[in-house]
Amino acid sequence: MSFGKVVSVGILLICAGLTACGDDTPPKPTNNERTDTWPRLAPALPRDPELEARIESLLAQMSIEEKVGQLIQAEIKYVTPEDVRKYHLGSILNGGGTYPNNDKFASPQDWLAMADAYYEASMDTSDGGVAIPIIWGSDAVHGHNNLVGATLFPHNIGLGATRDPDLIRRIGEATAREVAVTGVNWTFAPTVAVARDDRWGRTYESYSEDPEILGPYAEQMIKGIQGEVGSTSFLDGYHLVSAAKHFVGDGGTTRGRDRGDTQVSEKDLAEIHAAGYISALKAGVQTIMASFNSWNGERLHGHAYLLTEVLKNRLGFDGFVVGDWNGHRFVPGCTVESCPQAINAGLDMFMVPSDWKALYENTLAQAKSGEISAERLNDAVSRILRVKLRAGLFERNQPLAGKSGILGSAEHRAIAREAVRKSLVLLKNNGGLLPLDPRGKILVAGDAADNIAKQSGGWTISWQGTGNTDEDFPGATSIYDGIRDAVKKAGGEVLLSVDGTYTKDSFSDGGKPDVAIVVYGEDPYAEWHGDLASIEYQLGIKTDLALLKKLKAQNIPVVSIFISGRPLWVNKELNASDAFVAAWLPGSEGAGIADVILTDAEGNIQHDFTGRLSFSWPRLVHQTVLNRRDENYDPLFAYGYGLNYGDQTQISNNLPEDGETYVEGRLEDAWLLVSRPRSPWQLFIADADKAPLPVTGNRASSGSDENITVASIDMESQEDARLIHWKGLRDGSVQLVAPKPQNLNRYLKENAALTMDIRVDQPPEGPVDAIIACGDDCAAELPLQGLLQQQSPDTWSNVSIDLQCFVRAGADFSRISSGLTLRSKGPLSLAVANIKYVPGAAESAELKCRG
Ligand code: BGC
Ligand code: BGC
Repeated sequence: MSFGKVVSVGILLICAGLTACGDDTPPKPTNNERTDTWPRLAPALPRDPELEARIESLLAQMSIEEKVGQLIQAEIKYVTPEDVRKYHLGSILNGGGTYPNNDKFASPQDWLAMADAYYEASMDTSDGGVAIPIIWGSDAVHGHNNLVGATLFPHNIGLGATRDPDLIRRIGEATAREVAVTGVNWTFAPTVAVARDDRWGRTYESYSEDPEILGPYAEQMIKGIQGEVGSTSFLDGYHLVSAAKHFVGDGGTTRGRDRGDTQVSEKDLAEIHAAGYISALKAGVQTIMASFNSWNGERLHGHAYLLTEVLKNRLGFDGFVVGDWNGHRFVPGCTVESCPQAINAGLDMFMVPSDWKALYENTLAQAKSGEISAERLNDAVSRILRVKLRAGLFERNQPLAGKSGILGSAEHRAIAREAVRKSLVLLKNNGGLLPLDPRGKILVAGDAADNIAKQSGGWTISWQGTGNTDEDFPGATSIYDGIRDAVKKAGGEVLLSVDGTYTKDSFSDGGKPDVAIVVYGEDPYAEWHGDLASIEYQLGIKTDLALLKKLKAQNIPVVSIFISGRPLWVNKELNASDAFVAAWLPGSEGAGIADVILTDAEGNIQHDFTGRLSFSWPRLVHQTVLNRRDENYDPLFAYGYGLNYGDQTQISNNLPEDGETYVEGRLEDAWLLVSRPRSPWQLFIADADKAPLPVTGNRASSGSDENITVASIDMESQEDARLIHWKGLRDGSVQLVAPKPQNLNRYLKENAALTMDIRVDQPPEGPVDAIIACGDDCAAELPLQGLLQQQSPDTWSNVSIDLQCFVRAGADFSRISSGLTLRSKGPLSLAVANIKYVPGAAESAELKCRG
């Protein structure tokens, strides 16, 4: 065994640029076409001479400092009303999971008090400045979702299935009203992305993979939120400012990587990805959020052609472009604290949550030096003022402020429940199992059955939608709640049993249930935390499949209710179910599901299924980019598919299960830890020979003396890395462990390497090993300290080790129990991110063991 040697000879890593490593991105189109693909639109609102005159007069009174202040949007955790007064800031936001006073249960009055404080500060002219009202933006993306007690509508993917633009308008209206109660005057919605690769973590924020739905939906959502242009409802305080996001191409990135590169022609950019913007603009959308992604290599935040020439000149947009969360920093030459390039390209307001002061100072200096021209500065400020004037912010028109009865009102919940019913897509109903008779004996199983947090997905009270319990959803119903109420009313019997067990006492006749409804699916995630390497559901775990099979083995008919933010490869689960419903992420009104799957007490259908897929459903696990209008389109369930009760369609119980997870040459990376541990891998800390402890949440330690600690930190983006600190009191390890052994031989066949990004904050003082384990009696250990000692301190680099090195050290890849364990015997501080097995990477690995 000679790896020790090999390592010490210093096989290090370092590909150029962390992100590029091992990525088989297709070649880039060299030139962006500059074609006539974009329509020429007139602004939706005719110019109002009086309003324009007011803008002129305000501009004339404002100092350059005040103008630059308008370009800044800071986050409420990092900015005080006093800052707003002093710097004349234009805007504040609360990010996902940020609430007034850091209080998750902040009341609408607390929100309003905070809104008032910032507003008063913005209108304070005691320093001789001009009073310009601040505008507060929030992500009300499926209802006012940062607020406990708000109505939570299905996420956009479910709304896409309803095919009901009128419903979309009503949801927009209801959302605007709930937001207005809290004094917030702007929502960062709707997302009008057209998600093309379902591995994207934001697929559920997209109405459809096809632009067809985007036109009418974007239009109606904008009308719902903002009111109708030309009518008295427009921005009347019951209706608020809307932001269509993220301009443009966010749903088209290669491999569905959030914030990635969208490599498409200009025609496709315009016709597919911009479809929603074109109708949003016609409906008078007042703000547009620039996207993190790039188009053919050029970041949108610095894209003068798209932001200025296309959006403003050609598409006639006269509102303002807001950036995304520090999104300007990705523009070449920019940092979070300085980015004149973005303003010069056409961005009008920076979203700069915490580091706003430095950005303000730098932008001010650039405006003074002329690096940002007076003309551009005045244009940006005019646009911001125009929206503020149109929205009546100067008059502080807030008819709904503090009317807390509107939040989660019966009327709004009824709309959400209707949306839930209409969003359900019936994929399989063999033998007409559904609808179920509520007078029977019904077993309800699965970990999503009585779990409002899980059915609501990301962007729910917290950013990721994690950390919530049923207490956080007053007034909401779980899926089980709805079933229970209906069954009780009809005189049937219902048992909730997450793991599907029941006893002879469970039902009055001592027998088994007539039917089982199993509710399961994806756990909540948001943004890149939801990006996937594979679209296989429960890759390597399959606990839900085991539950379905257990029930089937008892001859109990099984209905699957699948909670997910996207279509996933579920052939095995489909085969093990008699009926299968794609329920997406329904939100707070889970009872809407019972309305459809159960008859009334007389056996009559209450509501038939009307939902139709707005995304194609994969037949094979490598169909990750599968869209209507593809050449050789071969989905399992096509765009537009959806059964109803009249249908006799029988779906085969023998959909392909084997051989499909591994198609030679098409193996995806295996992700062990990418932002978060990935299924089937779970993260544990093991201190000496004590039992390993699971790492949940963003900080964990091995015990009271904190011999080993693991904390979430930021590498490229929030919480995408882990900092592991070993005090060295005893040896200890951090382990990525699967609940059952994994056969990973296919990665050997595809010449994979273990790759990860690392940063050594404190070099090792004792032996360190990288271990791949194959059960209690089988492990391969590679010494790592040589490699770690060679790292330049405090810099990230990408390291890769041929998996064959582990084979040589004794790993049996047919039964891997720990995909990677890092063990240190002495003190060490090591940050790690993006731990993967990357097919094809062995050849360029720093540490090779073949030949
Ligand atoms: C997201 C946006 C969101 C913003 C503010 C960003 O990370 O991409 O969609 O509006 O944060 O929360
Ligand atoms: C914030 C979100 C934001 C995200 C992404 C989080 O910390 O809470 O609002 O979208 O970061 O950058």
